[in-house]
Amino acid sequence: MPSGEGQPLLSQSDLQDGRGVMGTSDRQSLRSMNSETSDVANELRKNLYSTRSSIIAQVGAIALFLYIFYHIMANDIIFFTGHPALNNFAIFALTQSIILVQPTSTAAEKQLGATVHGIFNVIAGMAFLGALSIIFVNKAAHQGIHFKSVHARLGLVTYILLFANVLLGITQYWTPYVYGSVSRAKSLYKYHRVIGYASLAFSFLTATLSTTTDYNRSIFGMKFSVLFGLVIVTSIGLAVRIRPQKFQFKFRRS
Ligand code: HEM
Repeated sequence: MPSGEGQPLLSQSDLQDGRGVMGTSDRQSLRSMNSETSDVANELRKNLYSTRSSIIAQVGAIALFLYIFYHIMANDIIFFTGHPALNNFAIFALTQSIILVQPTSTAAEKQLGATVHGIFNVIAGMAFLGALSIIFVNKAAHQGIHFKSVHARLGLVTYILLFANVLLGITQYWTPYVYGSVSRAKSLYKYHRVIGYASLAFSFLTATLSTTTDYNRSIFGMKFSVLFGLVIVTSIGLAVRIRPQKFQFKFRRS
């Protein structure tokens, strides 16, 4: 039997203290990499609550979520309930994904931020899609007319903007070659930002105008003024955090 055959490759004590798997310098560099990653994650997490503007945005976003949630719980849970519930969850996830990446400075922070931002947005996108499917099934059940109210029309615009932007964001970041090159894909980030803020503004407006639907007036009971007020507070918090230089639009002089 060749030497070592039939013996465990690593003894129990080696496994316990990591000897034999990697050298001391390997372990030190792994430890420092781990601590750098957790520093980046901590910095990024702080974006959600550490400044005055983020606190204003969070107060508005959480109050908006709770206000709609309260009305969902205060009414009978029916198939239709999925529509406001999923839209509410999606708006909250979308707001958090934007607050998270508003200020990112280092390359590592940008990279982790983009990944988490993408995950949040895919989750929000799925919730929005679920909410849209529910209202379609609901309308089909009683042959309801599509896109008749202001809320329904604005909702359609919101969904189109959101899905186009999620697609743009995913392809720019994960498959930049579809735009010809990485730098070309990067040059389109500013459009992703503009459409991102526009789709959030449309989501806020659509949710606020859901108060004008017959269902809200007769059953659900949300107040336009409350939703509008909360949307304004959230928007102020978000707006102060916008860095205009990140849009980098070049205007030609005539
Ligand atoms: C950003 C959030 C929301 C979006 C994007 C959205 C989108 C839409 C869309 C596109 C429709 C029309 C579907 C069709 O005509 O086939 C619709 C209908 C409806 N939504 Fe929403 N919605 C949102 C939030 C809410 C909330 C919070 C409520 C709470 C009451 C609500 C209540 C209704 C009602 C009652 C209808 C059926 C009446 C109508 O077509 O106007 N929606 N929604």
